[in-house]
Amino acid sequence: MLTFEDEPVKAQAPLTIDPLFQTDAQDFDLRPQTPLHGQGSAAVHANAAIAAEPVAGSANRRVSVEDKQIINCNADVNQLVPFKYKWAWDKYLGACANHWMPQEISMSRDISLWKDPNGLTEDERRLIKRNLGFFVTADSLAANNIVLGTYRHITNPECRQYLLRQAFEEAIHTHAYQYIVESLGLDEGEIFNAYHEVASIRDKDEFLIPFIDTLTDPHFKTGTQETDQQLLKSLIVFACIMEGLFFYVGFTQILALGRQNKMTGAAEQYQYILRDESMHCNFGIDVINQIKMENPHLWTKAFRDEINELMHKAVALEYRYAEDTMPRGVLGMNAPMFKEYLRYIANRRCQQIGLDILYPNANNPFPWMSEMIDLKKEKNFFETRVTEYQTGGALNWE
Ligand SMILES: [Fe+2]
Ligand SMILES: [Fe+2]
Repeated sequence: MLTFEDEPVKAQAPLTIDPLFQTDAQDFDLRPQTPLHGQGSAAVHANAAIAAEPVAGSANRRVSVEDKQIINCNADVNQLVPFKYKWAWDKYLGACANHWMPQEISMSRDISLWKDPNGLTEDERRLIKRNLGFFVTADSLAANNIVLGTYRHITNPECRQYLLRQAFEEAIHTHAYQYIVESLGLDEGEIFNAYHEVASIRDKDEFLIPFIDTLTDPHFKTGTQETDQQLLKSLIVFACIMEGLFFYVGFTQILALGRQNKMTGAAEQYQYILRDESMHCNFGIDVINQIKMENPHLWTKAFRDEINELMHKAVALEYRYAEDTMPRGVLGMNAPMFKEYLRYIANRRCQQIGLDILYPNANNPFPWMSEMIDLKKEKNFFETRVTEYQTGGALNWE
């Protein structure tokens, strides 16, 4: 039964190879070209690229499914097909189908409510500002982690294709948060510096940064037990803790406002972001499980214990953020409800990567959150869509 906002738990990442893609490389109509291989292939001479015969040397042969690996792969990363990880390609297609832009959503009702002195309580205003204070920089951290870190270490083109799409979505999310801050006329300096200046936000980011730094270090290279475990740990922190746990107090808060017909434009933005993030989290979990499957020696008892410790620490940090954003009950919610919710989510994340649950009997106090992900773009939940929206701006050919 689906009781949460994402896909059913998979014991292992799907490794279904579509029979369509199991053919020999010769069955593909690859036009006579010298296969480019490796990440440094941009330097190949232009004449070589149109040569009829492959350059001598075994590394220059056509890529087959068997050559592909999710990390530490030597096969040509420029050859998208034949697909090995069809789940990654399917997620790329799904993400493109979910495309949206922040300015599609009208913020006019939010602006009137924010400007009305009686429109929102002080606790609601604090919640909104602290909420944006975390998110305005979080997705920038996420984008940098992908572009400057993860992308280099995932040596598979179909996964990289998804990561490119994900990176753009992180830019859209940063855009959405900026758009809300600008629409409401909030103090940009205050909101964009909250990750330095508000302890509950800074502590979450300081927890994440060492793991981002590992992947973005230009000298970091996978290929040993130690570095492959470091990569896997950073991927787990990013997918299961950052995107999979640290976003959920914030998402629930703004969506709870929307359910009470307050800040409905912001709530709709968050609803789209939640849908994207749920897919990011699921993609990350598929990557993690695939790495585990291909490199079972990484999944040691000591490693699993370390992940459990990180998960406990993350739940404590996110709970502190819940307390700070909601010092009193607000919108029918209070911080203790989030303690239960965060334990429920942490259990879910552990199960998704094949770990035992950490908090037996934790329940979901916000079952309505699972509806939020099931969003049809044409028929939105809060009905705030701008009807005059024009994709791509006005084209003028004169
Ligand atoms: Fe994001
Ligand atoms: Fe994300």
